[in-house]
Amino acid sequence: MGLSKKTVKFLSKKCTRSLAGKTVLITGANSGVGYKTAEILIYLGARVIMACRSAEKANAAREKLLSEYPNADIRVMSLDISDFDSIDKFADKLPDVDVFINNAGVFMHPGETTKQGFDLVMGTNYIGVYYLSEKILPKLAQLGHGVAYINTISIIHKVAKVRFDRFFSEKGAYSRSKLCLARYSEYLFRKYSGTNISVFMSHPGITITQIASHVFGRIYFLAKIMPFNSTEKSSLSAAVILAGDVPEGSVVGPGKLFGGWGYPKVNKKCKRALRDIDPLIEFTQNAVEKVNSGREEKTKAQVT
Ligand SMILES: NC(=O)c1ccc[n+]([C@@H]2O[C@H](COP(=O)([O-])OP(=O)(O)OC[C@H]3O[C@@H](n4cnc5c(N)ncnc54)[C@H](OP(=O)(O)O)[C@@H]3O)[C@@H](O)[C@H]2O)c1
Repeated sequence: MGLSKKTVKFLSKKCTRSLAGKTVLITGANSGVGYKTAEILIYLGARVIMACRSAEKANAAREKLLSEYPNADIRVMSLDISDFDSIDKFADKLPDVDVFINNAGVFMHPGETTKQGFDLVMGTNYIGVYYLSEKILPKLAQLGHGVAYINTISIIHKVAKVRFDRFFSEKGAYSRSKLCLARYSEYLFRKYSGTNISVFMSHPGITITQIASHVFGRIYFLAKIMPFNSTEKSSLSAAVILAGDVPEGSVVGPGKLFGGWGYPKVNKKCKRALRDIDPLIEFTQNAVEKVNSGREEKTKAQVT
């Protein structure tokens, strides 16, 4: 099908920098915003690596993109962002990239947990990204060229609260996971400022993808006929960031109606995302270390 005429027009006006020769890795690129982001960046000339948990879905998405862009350079890597074992393997094989987009995410899965026992939503959208980033950013910082590191948040983080005594509660997990990710991204932006790593946040506003289809079930088709942003329009944030005029640390996403609709632009940062960052990092480090010492004990027990 290819990109719409409106998207092509937007790109020809706002994103004139070619991405030829640049390698972009996108997590969860087999569907929704990740897939469309891949398509847009391929259109702009980038090589794309799709890091996905399902090889079957990733290869099908790759084939679909190749049918539209036969000369594109598209690779697939295995990554389950909710599983520390998968992240360890992925980090060992980390390729040289110019852009890394943490896009994979899940919405409302009450009662479900990750392999390491975290609430699935917090474990995927925040803890997984934290664990991955702590592993790969020191490696990316050794590359002799610039790297744009883009974390995908959501406008819903603006109404979230973080309480450490209810950190892994399934109630409010999605918005809390995105607020934690926004605070962590701010931490990373400050930590890597002045290095080869440029940290950004993007968000897609509100667009109908598969992310909430399990929640709404049979009435999901109603959402599809509502006037939300098309997934293509919602996936232009990375292209805008990579066009070059966006300051490091910015949040980029649709700019109309509280950030839910429209074409992407630099958004005003939410004050909530700028406070209580250090206690969050300390809490997260402790939670991850606790799980990791359990994993080490398990490995030792298996060996002896
Ligand atoms: N749609 C919106 O309105 C909206 C609004 C704000 C923010 N966002 C954010 O945008 C991002 C993309 O969401 P979307 O709307 O495009 O949803 P989507 O179509 O469901 O795409 C999510 C992608 O993440 C992948 N994924 C989920 N869990 C994973 C895991 N453990 N490891 C690796 N990949 C995993 C999915 O893979 P599978 O196909 O294998 O499940 C899928 O490829 C998410 O971070 C989401 O929170 C979306």
